[in-house]
Amino acid sequence: MPRILAIETSCDETAAAVVVDGKTMLSNIIASQAAKHAQYGGVFPEVASRMHVEIIYQVVQQALSDAHLGLGDIDAVAVTRGPGLPGSLVVGLNMAKGLALGRNLPLIGINHLEGHVYSLWLAAERGAPEVRFPVVCLIVSGGHTELILMTDHNRYQRLGGTLDDAAGEAFDKVARLLSLPYPGGPSIEQAAQGGNPAAFRFPRAWLEGTFDFSFSGLKTAVLYEVKKQKPGMPMGPDSPPLDLTAVPDMAASFQTAIIDVLVSKTVAAAQAYQATEIFVAGGVSANQALKAEFDRRAACPVRVPPLILCTDNAAMMGAAANFRFLAGQRDALDMDVLPNWRLV
Ligand code: KG4
Ligand code: ZN
Repeated sequence: MPRILAIETSCDETAAAVVVDGKTMLSNIIASQAAKHAQYGGVFPEVASRMHVEIIYQVVQQALSDAHLGLGDIDAVAVTRGPGLPGSLVVGLNMAKGLALGRNLPLIGINHLEGHVYSLWLAAERGAPEVRFPVVCLIVSGGHTELILMTDHNRYQRLGGTLDDAAGEAFDKVARLLSLPYPGGPSIEQAAQGGNPAAFRFPRAWLEGTFDFSFSGLKTAVLYEVKKQKPGMPMGPDSPPLDLTAVPDMAASFQTAIIDVLVSKTVAAAQAYQATEIFVAGGVSANQALKAEFDRRAACPVRVPPLILCTDNAAMMGAAANFRFLAGQRDALDMDVLPNWRLV
């Protein structure tokens, strides 16, 4: 049963974890920089890299000590190689290389999106039956919206994806328009709870005959509505807060529109490819209204990770690395980051 130390620094979380057998987390340390970036209204890449450098050593130490293991007990070091912010990825990769070189351990570079998919393996209950393929995976994060058919471990076919903004990015941008704090997803979800989802009929881009998505029109529709409510209002992180009665309705109407498209397309893909299950992963999968809509409309079981594994973490990278380790993947010490690495 391989014991893998995994490191993840693709964006604004410095994370390390120890995972056994691709399923069991012995530790899962996440140092989030979100509070720091909130003052900029989004991730400030240079600040993110510096903060990773400051804390990475401590985070890795903590992951080992929480697991009650030393480096001598570890079978491989896994690390996120991309996609992500180049300056952030480099910090995790160099830490992993140092550990691999110093202790003569195998080094395994993992795609961040594959990590999100494997967060579902960590979430499986002990003794639960093995996953039967094919599975349709919706990966919805701040940087990505991808609909993937998974036909076996580490084997993927891309069915579609966003043509413009990622789903999480749309949440973040609309939150800014509504003067809600970063990260926008949780802010919108919270604001939407007090709103009427039918108050505004925001557009849905169906892109018929494809499994692609487009959210920029939806974002623009919210912008026009905000301008209608507050003519002449300057837009940006320092703008005055919107009329408090309109914000919950707009948040709820926006959230309903984006969820409608995400769920419809994923359910259609699962039917078209006779998937045994639907996996939803990535930061946006933390959204409870999204989960509820999937449960309401899907004909097959839908799995969503527990909240702590929805957003970026290293345990999911360790789970993905387990199957690659068993398949014999070993990466060289001159491996470089791949900031635009596609899963398929
Ligand atoms: O996977 P993740 O932590 O980082 C990336 O790989 O991008 O995803 C972060 C994204 C952000 O855009 C954030 O606004 C969104 O996930 N998010 C949510 C929720 N929690 C986080 N979106 C909708 N509802 C949420 N509850
Ligand atoms: Zn992510």
